[in-house]
Amino acid sequence: MLTVRAPATSANLGSGFDVFGVALGTPADVVRVERAPETRITVTGAGSQYIPEDPEQNTVGAVADALDAPAHIKIDKGIRPSSGLGSSAASAAAAAVGLNALYDRGLSREELVPIAAEGEALVSGEAHADNVAPSILGGFTVATDDGVTQVDTSIPVVACLPETTVSTRDAREVVPDSATLEDVVDTVGSAATLTVGMTRNDPELVGRGMEDAIVTPERTALIDGYDRVREAALEVGATGVTVSGAGPGVLAVCHDDDQREIAGAMIDAFDDVGIESRAYQTHVGDGAQLFRD
Ligand code: HSE
Repeated sequence: MLTVRAPATSANLGSGFDVFGVALGTPADVVRVERAPETRITVTGAGSQYIPEDPEQNTVGAVADALDAPAHIKIDKGIRPSSGLGSSAASAAAAAVGLNALYDRGLSREELVPIAAEGEALVSGEAHADNVAPSILGGFTVATDDGVTQVDTSIPVVACLPETTVSTRDAREVVPDSATLEDVVDTVGSAATLTVGMTRNDPELVGRGMEDAIVTPERTALIDGYDRVREAALEVGATGVTVSGAGPGVLAVCHDDDQREIAGAMIDAFDDVGIESRAYQTHVGDGAQLFRD
């Protein structure tokens, strides 16, 4: 039997829609895998009542199929589904890392990324790797059709999670089909700035580089209180704020000393519009960790 802890992630980071992602120190899913004649899945923990245990409908079932690795898979959810923190991706990432080891498949972490992304396709309808890549590899990742690039970094962040949900499918429906050249130029500039910031571990550059003129403005309308929460975080020192993944989570980048005040300001701002929330004060961190029992 093997146990894998796979971290929550925040995808897009504003300017890197479907490409950028970071692993978060907390929260995380914990997945245990044990060889079995056929795949059986049990789910406990945060929001488990909303997650199907049928292997045909669960991301980890698709991963077990892809690796030809039937197993009894026990998922303990630390990451609530439909939160914008890569909940299904973390389970898929954990299963990929765990089953690869359990069956001695010998695939590298990079090779496991597209396999875990196939599991994601079950949930979002498309196999994009911007959440599974950081959950498997850690740090900041750039996932494109040509592969994944990874940088270790420890940028401080606050991920604020309201008690509301936005489905990835709904959030993808509001993504515009086209953009003006001016908006593309601005967003490419932001993405490049963010990438330099990640390599320098510089929260100012990362925060500035999250500005996105194309996708984020459409999505913020789906998150009650978003503008208020963003303003509140910026007022007390956040260097940048954006939607985490498909939402409704909101991600603030900051300096270590400002984390606590930013977390409080974001929770208060959601509270002002009648929405309860919780905030994770954490850092960009490690990818999936494997433990042998
Ligand atoms: N890049 C994806 C999106 C992440 O924003 O739709 C959520 O799975």
